[in-house]
Amino acid sequence: MTTEPGDPQNRVILVSNRGPLTFGRDHEGNRTSNRGGGGLVTALSGLVDVTPLVWVSAAMSDEDRTVQREAGDGRFPIPGHGTDTFGRFVLLDDEVFDQHYNVISNPMLWFVQHYLWDLSNVPDIRRLELDAWEHGYLVANRMFAEAVSAELRERPDAVVMLHDYHLYTAPESIRAAHPDAFLHFFVHIPWTQPDYWRVLPPHIREAVLRGLLANDIVAFHTARYARNFLLCCEDLLGLTVDMERRSIRWMGREVWVRSYPISVDAKAFETLAASPEVATEEGPILRRRRAHLIVRVDRADLSKNAIRGFKAFDVMLDDHPEMAEQVTFIAMLQPSRQDVPEYVEYLDAIKDVVSRINTKHGNTDWMPIDLRIESSLPRAVALYKHFDVLMVNAIYDGMNLVAKEGPLVNERSGVLVLSENVGSHEELGSFALSVNPFDIEDQASALYRALTMDMDERDERLSQIRRVVGENDVAKWLAAQRIDIDAKRAATASRATG
Ligand code: G6P
Repeated sequence: MTTEPGDPQNRVILVSNRGPLTFGRDHEGNRTSNRGGGGLVTALSGLVDVTPLVWVSAAMSDEDRTVQREAGDGRFPIPGHGTDTFGRFVLLDDEVFDQHYNVISNPMLWFVQHYLWDLSNVPDIRRLELDAWEHGYLVANRMFAEAVSAELRERPDAVVMLHDYHLYTAPESIRAAHPDAFLHFFVHIPWTQPDYWRVLPPHIREAVLRGLLANDIVAFHTARYARNFLLCCEDLLGLTVDMERRSIRWMGREVWVRSYPISVDAKAFETLAASPEVATEEGPILRRRRAHLIVRVDRADLSKNAIRGFKAFDVMLDDHPEMAEQVTFIAMLQPSRQDVPEYVEYLDAIKDVVSRINTKHGNTDWMPIDLRIESSLPRAVALYKHFDVLMVNAIYDGMNLVAKEGPLVNERSGVLVLSENVGSHEELGSFALSVNPFDIEDQASALYRALTMDMDERDERLSQIRRVVGENDVAKWLAAQRIDIDAKRAATASRATG
């Protein structure tokens, strides 16, 4: 893979369930396009600017389907990018999409990879789930594989870069059709330990592993996840793995297992923080600000652990009555996956706990928790600029880019309270206040310690975090992968000719 623009031999075929854009129509009937949500799209959008590529993703709206049909079953230009950037939508019918996304990918694979199940009660794996695997997940993956095959037929030397848990079985189909293709797979979420994968029936967990082993490189955010994956191959498939070289032999090929911590585009993010859209959002925040401001910004996802964060705030207010009226906790939670019942229940539970804490501690003048169920990037960045404490207490999280974005643009020497179970803890843990995400007392103490920390220590911690994020930004993440892709290609070629 090279970044030489326009070199047709070296294009990238980027593949992810959620694509960079969703198309719609405004009230006047004009076509609109909105950027896809979530950390994956944010990070991968950086790739669009440095490499000629086609981005294959699932159509999410009717207008997406129209765009794809207008493209005559081929690729369409992505608005706002150069002539070397294309999209291609995979058109899944509603039933397949629902089974793939709402039955398997999110409630099953996401849950297994974040240890989200209370195993004494859930999951029940019944006909519904088994059918959804067969007729939803596998079908959707085959359709993704066909779209990639169509691209590979035109550009057999392109690097195929697949992303995330929606697409585990696609590589096996692509490999069958294109034995010499270069397949690279990035898993953006944690990889859990072998025993937890045993919750899934053998045919499902083995298909997941086999699908991943059809790639040349399987990549994770941290060394811990890469290691867990190698252990799964050993325990669940009975393979011999080379822990030291982080490689596995499978079907006559060598598969590399690597880790690359993803990051943000630091420069672009700083520019955004200085934009007029963000400035407009800062006014109301500053006007309503008390002495201290705690902030969290997340998708309303079970893995993000919002409820324990609020409970910790409650305990902190119990323990330190002098903090009453001095501090507000603004939580911006973006609604997510609302066709999955667990997510709907979780959002309701969040609202309940917030209203209980506000009634207990608040008064007519002061609402301790300001819960905003909404999604607005400029408002989130305005909050990032003004927090005293940023709360990132996820149960488990692949990387968590909020922990990198917030400190990058914060103007108040704000303190990061960071779960020890998020990927970014490997890089930022020494400069944040680390917390155990299940220990509410620990989180309450961390909040208090952060709120009362002296400015010198706050400054020092924040500047160290900024340094690390600035040094390891998204360009470095891409470059490290590019080096390994080139090395792996060279190793494979020399074996073939040798
Ligand atoms: C996480 C996942 C992504 C996903 C994003 C948003 O970041 O790793 O694959 O796209 O969440 O979730 P959604 O279900 O809205 O695509």
